[in-house]
Amino acid sequence: MQASFSRRDLIWKFSRVAGIAGAYAAMDALGLVAAAEPYSGPPQASPMLGAGRKVVILGAGLAGLVAAWEMRKAGFSVTVLEARNRPGGRIWTVRRDSVMDHVHLPPQRVRFNPGQYFNVGAARIPAVHYGVHAYCREFGIPLETHVNVCGSARFVSSQLREGQPIERRRVENDIRGGVSELLTKAVNRGALDQELTAGDKERLLDYLSTYGALSEDGTYDGSIRDGYLETPTVLNEPYGPPKPIPLTELLQDERSADNLSFGETLFQQSTMVQPVGGMDAIPYAFAAKLRQHITYGAVVSHLVRKESGVRVIYGQKDGTAAVEDADFCICTLPFSVMSGVQTELSPEVKAGMAEFEYDSAGKVAWESERFWEVENHIYGGISYADTDSNLVWYPSNDFNAPRGVVVGTYNYVGQAERFEKMSLQEQFEASRANVEKVHPGRGVRLQKPVAVNWGKVPYSMGAWAAEGPHVKHDTPGVRAVVEGDGPVVFAGQHLSPMGAWMESAVRSAHYAIGQIYDRAKTN
Ligand code: PHE
Repeated sequence: MQASFSRRDLIWKFSRVAGIAGAYAAMDALGLVAAAEPYSGPPQASPMLGAGRKVVILGAGLAGLVAAWEMRKAGFSVTVLEARNRPGGRIWTVRRDSVMDHVHLPPQRVRFNPGQYFNVGAARIPAVHYGVHAYCREFGIPLETHVNVCGSARFVSSQLREGQPIERRRVENDIRGGVSELLTKAVNRGALDQELTAGDKERLLDYLSTYGALSEDGTYDGSIRDGYLETPTVLNEPYGPPKPIPLTELLQDERSADNLSFGETLFQQSTMVQPVGGMDAIPYAFAAKLRQHITYGAVVSHLVRKESGVRVIYGQKDGTAAVEDADFCICTLPFSVMSGVQTELSPEVKAGMAEFEYDSAGKVAWESERFWEVENHIYGGISYADTDSNLVWYPSNDFNAPRGVVVGTYNYVGQAERFEKMSLQEQFEASRANVEKVHPGRGVRLQKPVAVNWGKVPYSMGAWAAEGPHVKHDTPGVRAVVEGDGPVVFAGQHLSPMGAWMESAVRSAHYAIGQIYDRAKTN
């Protein structure tokens, strides 16, 4: 599928997903965003606070698990109701024989070889997500590097060299060289004499010379940063970089600024990490400790008030209904799912819940021989193409193993909504064609595809709640949701300004349990 983008679309798309991290990236670059304060951890309460008090938690995604884990420490009696037969929610890793369900597609059984896995949802952890790291430490979860940026990865755009793949290192360094050369010219011509002293000019020219890999005369003639034209094997053999691609040509690809700066944003910067063997190591670590407290296959149908507490009615695996009464409730279900639950919440809270918009996101993953490592020296990182599949995302685990799982499609906002209208077979073919664009001749090597369309995954019905400056959260309804309604409080990704990240689930859960601790103290 071919799609065309305007720059405004791209910025919108990016800020809609990235929340604070993306929307304020520019401010961040200007030093306008203060350094993050140290992580203070979950709110603490005496183990006596929860004695004789019960909380029912809706959802065993990360927010629900964190809340359950912490409230057990505070002595509460805890029940978690989870509709699925697994913990983790949008933290989901599939392996051979996993089954993937959608409301609009036939079920897919994963056929990967043993040892191969695919992180269907959350797939990378930023260094600065202190809350997630604190739990990885608490549970001793082994982590490895997740590579977000690889110089050997490729940029493909019909606006650039007729869609011929170009290595990221060339795009990046040739743009930098070109911009540095122009700025050097401007300084030398006196165009910045109003802004800069003679000393400033001197230092800026020095900086640009190194930053842009400029020649003595201040021109950019290419650099070995781009790679070798021919790799030399013996001393005295001549060698050099490829001819640089002119800046004016590179700027034809309107996606390159976004694609290049993606890995510079606060939450996508090096070093990123991932749990060894799959992201689900995190929810399963919690779930193992909370085994007696989680009921799986529990589909909540009603959330009603009861004197001072709550009553939750849910359907069980055997089709019968059951009731759970509690003093408090933490509802972590996405509001896209809560719209199907009958509640007795206040009109303000109900109105607030309806204000949240959910985005979809899609991925297609393939098992394959690792041609990207063997032939293209790509170890992790992301290639970008101007299709609705958006990118090719390479595995960061098991480098140089014979086979691996590569993501041939990861799209969101707009693209994902278009993508999920296609049949499974059409999605696979679009994804294969995307990989073929980035790696001509190699699309045929891809095997055993699986696709996720998060907007249509039962019990998620969305990838994340939309974020960013264009989403209005300062409304009476949303304030009412944040405040909660008597014994009911809310947590989940959608309640944090950090955007679509596990850290949002952690922090929102901490906030919610703090609300309950306060209410329990005055009860
Ligand atoms: N956290 C998700 C990811 O890294 C969603 C996201 C995408 C968040 C882009 C911010 C920016 O893929």
